[in-house]
Amino acid sequence: MVDFEFKEEKQSEAIVITIDGPAGSGKTTTAKELAKILDYRHLDSGALYRTLTFSLLSANVPTSRWDQLEETDLEGLKLQFIPEGDCIEMYYNQRKLSSELRSPEVTDNVSHVSSLGVVRNWLLGTQQMLGVHGGLVADGRDMGAAVFPEAEVKIFLTAELEIRARRRLLENIGEEISKEQFKEEMIRIEERDLADRSRKYSPLIRAEDSILVDTTTLSFKDQLIAVRNIVKDLTGV
Ligand code: C5P
Repeated sequence: MVDFEFKEEKQSEAIVITIDGPAGSGKTTTAKELAKILDYRHLDSGALYRTLTFSLLSANVPTSRWDQLEETDLEGLKLQFIPEGDCIEMYYNQRKLSSELRSPEVTDNVSHVSSLGVVRNWLLGTQQMLGVHGGLVADGRDMGAAVFPEAEVKIFLTAELEIRARRRLLENIGEEISKEQFKEEMIRIEERDLADRSRKYSPLIRAEDSILVDTTTLSFKDQLIAVRNIVKDLTGV
């Protein structure tokens, strides 16, 4: 059993670890904590798509124009993705973004942005460059299947829909969850999953060589231990 309460010594062999899965499966929190344990950097690829969505909304580009976006339009948004410490920070107009990326407006529109071929192409190189030297835990939808097909460890996290909705609500609004909010969250997650799974470019799929971890009955701590142990068993890292 690995004790993850303490940061482990920096590894000489720095690998790439991918963690994919549907909305609310706990990918981002798990990836972030795993990166801390290994002294690796964390790439939250969902935040890249959220940054693009936030900036298109902020720049008042109408959603009806999004399907016609070209690479020059994306360049014109002047986004910056900068490795800082153990993560990648996102900037729009020199402003560091954080909680605004999780607003309902961004969440409701991000699947549209992420379905666009031009967007996926534009972000592909950026993401791959961040993993060139290894030492990266990348989470998202297509990290193992498309962005880092050679990653040393690929994990696919999943959990039942109800559990994922409850975890999301607990994180966003706390213990006081009404039946109505619960129902709405389940619908929102289901719709986003459907859009992510059925899009043409880089849909959410489980990479064939990934390891499935069902977290439905696991606490966050157990989920993290399970993932940490998979990495250790497979690579010795
Ligand atoms: O993980 P998160 O919920 O922040 O992701 C937001 C959205 O970004 C997803 O619903 C999906 O549409 C898109 N995404 C993606 N590919 C990734 C990561 C996220 O299409 N690798």
